[in-house]
Amino acid sequence: MIAGWRAVVRAVLDAPGSVVMLGAVDVGKTTRAAALANVVCRAGQRVAIVDADTGQSDLGPPTTVGLGAMDRPVHRMAEVQLRAMYFVGDTSPQATLRFLTAGITRLVAKAHDLGAVTIIIDTTGWIRGPAGIAAKLREIKAGAARHVVAIQRAEEVEPILRRLPPGVMVHRLRPHARARRRSSAERRAFRERQFERYFRGGRPRSLDLRALRQERAVTYAGVRIAPADVATRLPAAELRHRLVGLADGAGDLMALGTVTGVRAGGAAMDVLAPPPLADRIAVLQWGTLRVSPAGREERRSEGAA
Ligand SMILES: Nc1ncnc2c1ncn2[C@@H]1O[C@H](COP(=O)(O)OP(=O)(O)OP(=O)(O)O)[C@@H](O)[C@H]1O
Ligand SMILES: [Mg+2]
Repeated sequence: MIAGWRAVVRAVLDAPGSVVMLGAVDVGKTTRAAALANVVCRAGQRVAIVDADTGQSDLGPPTTVGLGAMDRPVHRMAEVQLRAMYFVGDTSPQATLRFLTAGITRLVAKAHDLGAVTIIIDTTGWIRGPAGIAAKLREIKAGAARHVVAIQRAEEVEPILRRLPPGVMVHRLRPHARARRRSSAERRAFRERQFERYFRGGRPRSLDLRALRQERAVTYAGVRIAPADVATRLPAAELRHRLVGLADGAGDLMALGTVTGVRAGGAAMDVLAPPPLADRIAVLQWGTLRVSPAGREERRSEGAA
């Protein structure tokens, strides 16, 4: 059954909790998420947004999950104030699903800590095939969804909805008539603009790798390289412009960096990164995507091990 928008709003206001937005690309998930957040905010409930779309990110740069707290209504999702980030390492959820789900769990918990009772989780449009279905079910579980808002042109979200854990309230909507499709070139241009804007505020920073805990192994030429060996064992061309997460001891992302050089036999590394959210960098997390300081996406390596 297709619900009306007002019925969705009513149900969410009556039963606060996590709301996961589901749908293929360009059906209007983000627009609806922002609209829903506005209504909940106007109704006087504390609302937060977890942006788990690591490609077309609105909160934080691509490759991250972002947490935003709403204290007033917004025109667009991107206006929501960023409160925390978690590094996923790639724009594509296929490559790094376990970091995506870890990020959702972590930022939903943080949203509760900030006092939010309704947490709207925006997701990628990857919903098809066994892997897409399994990924979305894991994201829904990670977010402890109480509601799922499924926006579908036909029945494309039904294979996920059939497999939801009991107790999740499902609301089906059709895409808005004005929802517009974007080409893959437009989507890439959007990501590159987001990266460029993020790194524009960056400064060169020298990291003493011996003083940081390094996390997330990298696979190169079919071989798994342990996190602490990446700077010494990966060829320079594979290190250049690799994204790294600079996190605090608890794993919260303080800044995203792009590698510009390795020195002192792998003991020191130069990155370009904006000023961190807080000066508590204790962990370096290796990403899989390479992005230049100008925002250009370079070849992706083989994925997280
Ligand atoms: N109600 C609406 N009125 C006007 N434009 C809309 C509306 N809903 C969506 N759009 C437009 O359609 C496009 C896709 O919408 P949106 O970004 O919300 O979709 P999405 O499902 O989040 O896409 P993605 O899968 O890329 O994250 C955007 O350009 C958006 O501005
Ligand atoms: Mg979106």
